[in-house]
Amino acid sequence: MKRIGILTAGGDCPGLNAVIRVVAKAAHQGGMEVIGIEDGYLGLVEGRMRPLRPDDVSGILTHGGTILGACNKTNPAAHRVNVNGEVVVKDMRDDIVARCRDMGIEAMVIIGGDGTMCGAALLVERGLKVVGVPKTIDNDLWATDVTFGYDTAMTTAAEALDKVHTTASSHHRIMVVELMGRYAGWLTLGAGVASGADVILIPEIPFRMEAVAEKCVYRSKHGRRFTVIAVGEGAAPLGGKVVIDRVDETSAEPIRLGGIGRFVATEVEKLTGIESRSILLGHVQRGGVPTPHDRLLATSFGHHAYELLSTGWLDRVVVQRNGVIDSVPLEEVAGRTRTVPLDHPQIRAALGIGTSFGQ
Ligand code: F6P
Repeated sequence: MKRIGILTAGGDCPGLNAVIRVVAKAAHQGGMEVIGIEDGYLGLVEGRMRPLRPDDVSGILTHGGTILGACNKTNPAAHRVNVNGEVVVKDMRDDIVARCRDMGIEAMVIIGGDGTMCGAALLVERGLKVVGVPKTIDNDLWATDVTFGYDTAMTTAAEALDKVHTTASSHHRIMVVELMGRYAGWLTLGAGVASGADVILIPEIPFRMEAVAEKCVYRSKHGRRFTVIAVGEGAAPLGGKVVIDRVDETSAEPIRLGGIGRFVATEVEKLTGIESRSILLGHVQRGGVPTPHDRLLATSFGHHAYELLSTGWLDRVVVQRNGVIDSVPLEEVAGRTRTVPLDHPQIRAALGIGTSFGQ
């Protein structure tokens, strides 16, 4: 292969630059030219791209975000364009494949989560050659035990939970912290267990407000006059619905979750009479310097992607399973997510020391 492309699609996360760096440097050493596509699939549709030489990626290992830009709205098979004030949905896949062919781009490294891998599979249908690299703070991609971005986000969230402990304790309050993660509880479970949250509410375990309140009252009566609750944005009460913050019709995945933290704080205060506050961590979790763990994982993933390209093993996604970096066919991953199994060791350990999951 002489020329490859690379793009970062979906929401940004710490570690993207580490992948861009290793792919660009390894490809250069292997005699390949790398073209960076701007803003994920949007730049691919609009033909915005630039060469990436080793100098362009020097010094970015420790930087959060992505030097290429990202977009979590574009679907290459259903791109929304404004024609004379009217929104028209167009399938841009053939145009994309033709442009890549004209530019001599023989394969594309596509870094993203499950939505991005769906887009990649749609492009493969029209003849683009692809290697996928899994990223997301949500850690919910199918077939890999872990995605980069998760460790940094989990560390940030755990630190935030650690910090609210002091106010919770000083003011004898209930502090509810809402974490990201969409419909998977990995981030909330990891940060919650790591910081010793008293109640952990995740999408995989529908909760009862009464059980949450009982836990808080029990703690108040037994010397602990405060409670820290970690709640995932996709968690919902038994028989209830997730709380939606906004619906963005311009996005390939229109639903944005948010607001369950405030709901829990309001309800638990009503039930217990204990003063409560809610904090929404939001995009703070996606930002900042990647942890060394995420830099290592992103570098290993990116290098494996390069090895797949250079050996012609295409239309695959890099994964890590049981500590080993490997790859699986793209169609196995596209459109599938991975939630927390109910017998996960972190859930068992938390239950074993009296943490409530609101059941
Ligand atoms: O998938 C990553 C993620 O941060 C989710 O945890 C969250 O639900 C979503 O993206 C937020 O998306 P946006 O940046 O469009 O608000």
